[in-house]
Amino acid sequence: MSKPRVLVTRRWPESVEKAMAINFEVTLNDDDHAMSADELAKALQEYDAVCPCVTDSMPQSLFGASFIKTRIIGNYGVGFDHIAIDAAKSKGIVVTNTPDVLTDATADLAMTLMLMLARRAGEGERQLRAGQWHGWYPTHLMGTQVTGKSLGIVGMGRIGKAMAEKAHFGFGMKILYHNRKPIPESEERRLNAEYCTELTWLMSRSDFVSLHCPSSPRTKGMVNEKTLACMRPDAFLINTSRGDVVVEKALIKFLQKGLIAGAGLDVYDNEPELPEALLALDNLVLLPHLGSATKETRTAMGMRVLGNLNAFFNGEEPPDKL
Ligand code: DGY
Repeated sequence: MSKPRVLVTRRWPESVEKAMAINFEVTLNDDDHAMSADELAKALQEYDAVCPCVTDSMPQSLFGASFIKTRIIGNYGVGFDHIAIDAAKSKGIVVTNTPDVLTDATADLAMTLMLMLARRAGEGERQLRAGQWHGWYPTHLMGTQVTGKSLGIVGMGRIGKAMAEKAHFGFGMKILYHNRKPIPESEERRLNAEYCTELTWLMSRSDFVSLHCPSSPRTKGMVNEKTLACMRPDAFLINTSRGDVVVEKALIKFLQKGLIAGAGLDVYDNEPELPEALLALDNLVLLPHLGSATKETRTAMGMRVLGNLNAFFNGEEPPDKL
C-alpha cells in the first residue's frame, strides 16, 4: 500500500523529518520559504495531510474548493488561530495541535522577558555594544527587583501555570491570575495564587502582567486603553501569547508617555512587521516570536505532530484532535 502523502510547510529539526519519512511520503519545503495562499490551497488538493505552522494563514476562503484531498491538518504549534477550524471541519478535515510540549519553553521565555525588562538588560547590552559603557557607578541603569514582587497572569492554562510555578518557587512572587474560571483551591494554595474575576483588578495590582491566553474573539484587544489605564506607572507588561491580544497602538502610547514602565514582547499584531514607533522605544525588550524555540521543544513539537498523523492513518483518534 502506498504511504500517505504529507506536506510539511517549513523545515523541522532533522531528526523529526527523518522520523516522518518512515511512515509517510513527505514533501519538504527545501528553501524554507513562507508559503503563499496559493501554495497552501494547492496543497489541500494534493496531499493527504498538511502540516502548517503559525506563519501559514489558513482562512475560511482556503477551504472553499469543491475538491479537497487533505484529511488531516497537523498543526506544528499549540496556537491555532491562523486556521479556520470550523471551515476545515465542515470539509471533514481533522485538525490537531501540539499542546504540553512547549509549555516550559514558552514560560521560560516569558521569565526571560520579565527579568530582562526589570533589570534593563536590553538597554545595558545595547549601550555596551555601542561602546557607550564608561564604567561602574552607583546610579547606572538601575532596574527593578523581581524577587518578592506581584505577577498578574492572564490565562491560567498550562503555560500560565508553568509561569506561576517558576515565578512563585524561583522568585517568591505573589501570583494573581485572571482566567475564565478559578483553578482548584489546592493549586491556588500551592502557588500562593489569588483569582481576580476582573482583568482591570489584576492589572491595577500587579508589578508585572504576563499574557498567556490564546487568541480568540474574547481575548482580541483585551489589553487596550481602558485596561492599560489600570496599570501602575512602575508596572511592566509581558506578551508571549499572540499579538492581537494587545492593541499595539494603545501600548505604544502608554509606553511613550511613561504611563507604564515597559513591555517585553515576543509576539506582534502583524508579524514580522513591527511599527517604527515600537522599535524607537527604549523601555522595551523585543524578541522575534521565540517562545517555543529550543531544540528540545521544536523536536518534541514535530514528534507530537507525527504521533497525531500516525494515530489518524491507523484509524485511531489523534490524541490532540481539536
Ligand atoms: C505556538 O505553538 O502557538 C507558537 O506560538 C508557535 O506557533
